[in-house]
This record gives sequence, C-alpha cells and structure tokens, in this order.
Amino acid sequence: MVTIHIHDKSFIPYISEEEIIKKVKQLAETINNDYKSKRPLFISVLNGSFMFSADLFKHLTIEAEICFIKLASYKGTKSSGQVITAIGLDTDITGRNIIILEDIIDTGKTLNQFLPQVYNQQPSSLKIAVLLNKPEATVHPVKIDYTCFSIPNKFVLGYGLDYNGLGRNLSQLYQLKED
Ligand code: XMP
Ligand code: MG
Repeated sequence: MVTIHIHDKSFIPYISEEEIIKKVKQLAETINNDYKSKRPLFISVLNGSFMFSADLFKHLTIEAEICFIKLASYKGTKSSGQVITAIGLDTDITGRNIIILEDIIDTGKTLNQFLPQVYNQQPSSLKIAVLLNKPEATVHPVKIDYTCFSIPNKFVLGYGLDYNGLGRNLSQLYQLKED
C-alpha cells in the first residue's frame, strides 16, 4: 500500500478514482432524472467541493446552472466549530430549484449555519448532495438528499479535500493513518 506524507501526517489510499467517478456519474444520472425541465441551480461550497462539483456537472445532460460560495470551518484535521463566510451568495435564488454541493458533512455545523440564508430567499425547492457523509460525527443534523459515500469518522483528504491546504490535487481519497 502506498503511504503518502503531507505536512506532519501519513495517509493511506481509501477510495479509488474509479469508484469515485462511478458514484458521481450515478448521482448525475439520478439528478438528470429528478430535475428534467427544472433547470436546477447548484450552489457549490468552496473550497473542498470544486472537484466533486466539476465532475458532477460534466455528467449532467439537463439544463443546469452553478454558482459558488466559500465557507470554512476546519483547522488542520479538526472542525474549529466556527464557520466563516469568505465568499457569499451573489445569485438570486428566489423561486429556483436549488441543489447544494458539499464535499463532506462532518458535524453538520457549516451547512446548518448556511441553510437559513438559503431558506430566507425562498427557493422553490432545496436539496443537498454530498460526496462524503460522516454519520458518526453528526452534532447538527442535516437532511441530506444525495450521498455518494457514507464513511467512518476518520479524517480524509484528496479529490478536493485538504489537510492545511495540501492534498486537494490528489485524484483519489486517502484516509489518515493512525500511529
Ligand atoms: P462540518 O463539521 O461543518 O464540516 O460539517 C464540514 C466541512 O469541514 C471540512 N471537513 C473535512 N475536510 N477532511 C477534510 O479535508 C475531512 O475528513 C473533513 N471533515 C470535514 C470540509 O471542508 C467540510 O466542508
Ligand atoms: Mg467543504
């Protein structure tokens, strides 16, 4: 097994690029069916969701739009508990069919803090699609509509997700190696 080293930590391969792309394609097909003629507006939560969002968007065959916001709550390998809006919502979402794209739901704090802003603008519908969900880590429950992978409560990186800024470029997912 190929162990990689990022900053002071070691990571082992976890979910392969093939498995990720297969799931993301399946999710795109589901959304193609669920949102025919609904012209959904995706809200992709940066930074971690950029790769997931790009791959999902490439496999959509329906009319769809995408915009980006930037929320951050993580420091190192632990949630800081504080959510910062670094780039806010600049698109009118009133009456739109919204799908939020998140890389990972951990405690649920980030989305729980952002969702009221979305509901305030009265979208016609709102669903949440995530690449990864860590059900054991939930503190603030969020109703997730589409999940690619449910994973145990261990830190992961790659495919857009980082450890202190590094590792986002990896095309597959890695898991923190316990010492
Ligand atoms: P909360 O706790 O608010 O966290 O649901 C969601 C955000 O925290 C980041 N996060 C991670 N990033 N590996 C990462 O690289 C992880 O295992 C991990 N868990 C949470 C992520 O940015 C997510 O949007
Ligand atoms: Mg994120």
